[in-house]
Amino acid sequence: MVRSKILGVGMGIPERVLTNFDLEKMVDTSDEWIVQRTGIRERRISDTQTASSDLATVASLQAIESAGLTPQDIDLILVGTVTPDTLFPSTACLLQHKLGARQVPAYDFSAGCTGFIYGLVMAESFLNYGSYQHILVVGVESLSKITDWEDRSTCVLFGDAAGAVVVGKSEDASGILSTYLGADGSLGNLLYIPAGGSRLPATQRTLDQRQHYLKMEGNEVFKAAVNAMKMSAMQALKKAKMSKEDVDWLIPHQANIRIIDFLAKMLKLPREKVIVTIDKLGNTSAASIPTALAMAVQDGRIKPGHNVLMVAFGAGFTWGSVLVRW
Ligand code: ACO
Repeated sequence: MVRSKILGVGMGIPERVLTNFDLEKMVDTSDEWIVQRTGIRERRISDTQTASSDLATVASLQAIESAGLTPQDIDLILVGTVTPDTLFPSTACLLQHKLGARQVPAYDFSAGCTGFIYGLVMAESFLNYGSYQHILVVGVESLSKITDWEDRSTCVLFGDAAGAVVVGKSEDASGILSTYLGADGSLGNLLYIPAGGSRLPATQRTLDQRQHYLKMEGNEVFKAAVNAMKMSAMQALKKAKMSKEDVDWLIPHQANIRIIDFLAKMLKLPREKVIVTIDKLGNTSAASIPTALAMAVQDGRIKPGHNVLMVAFGAGFTWGSVLVRW
């Protein structure tokens, strides 16, 4: 087995900031409620001209450059998203074209907020069993486009962003130490979009009933998230034969500061050792971990030799973790 390594990181963040105070003018909510219940103060929203592939292109070019490569060096493109530009062609194929990459394989996959973690695990497998050298893994979402801006229970939570990494083969002790993935489709209806697929195709009725927007049973999702995040974190450590004390940085999926704090407490990590972006970006689903990773690498918090534990949970339900020595 060859060890896989993240060679470069990047992010694409829309310019427009939507604060809690802006939301107070749109729905019956308050900055105080949102901060107390979620930890979110503001989120980024892309404009009407910008789709997921546009954000993904910015993040990918940054990741490829920081890996010291060019788009021509990429052998495979994997994009985790629940908000593709179109149902088909895939955002990965659109991204391949926008990057000017070669005619390499490219595909999307849907794993909700665990998308980036699923993508890293797939990249590791492709590197081991295929003839690939440099794999682009992207987590991207334009959640503002599937948010019901009249539903206060969900519209305060989400934002838009893209994060990307290039994964290649490690030549030293750094790289992916362990991975863990899981899913439970029986809980799918706690977080979903009812219409627009083959179950309930778009009609005037589905539009009138606002069925093309994200629906979530927040309380139930919260409980399941806490358990799945805890199990995923412990499994990655167990598989790497490491303990909580070995973790230098925790990068949890950014869904709710209370879930993040619970996980940090369970791992006995102080807040300073947890990468938190939820206050500035909200929940960006598949983009939340790679953007947090890119920020912490770019600002120098994560340094060579550090053990970084990434843990996610999302629609599906899906969950998973990746432990990396940077
Ligand atoms: N502003 C003010 N009041 C609100 C708002 C709001 N934005 N939203 C709901 N409320 C009200 C409710 O109506 C309710 O009022 P009531 O008591 O009069 O009925 C009250 O606040 C409490 O509502 P709860 O839903 O019980 O609030 P809770 O503390 O559970 O917080 C939240 C809700 C933030 C959604 C939380 O449940 C959560 O974070 N869940 C997890 C979400 C998650 O992890 N998602 C991850 C996956 S996302 C993905 O994959 C795309």
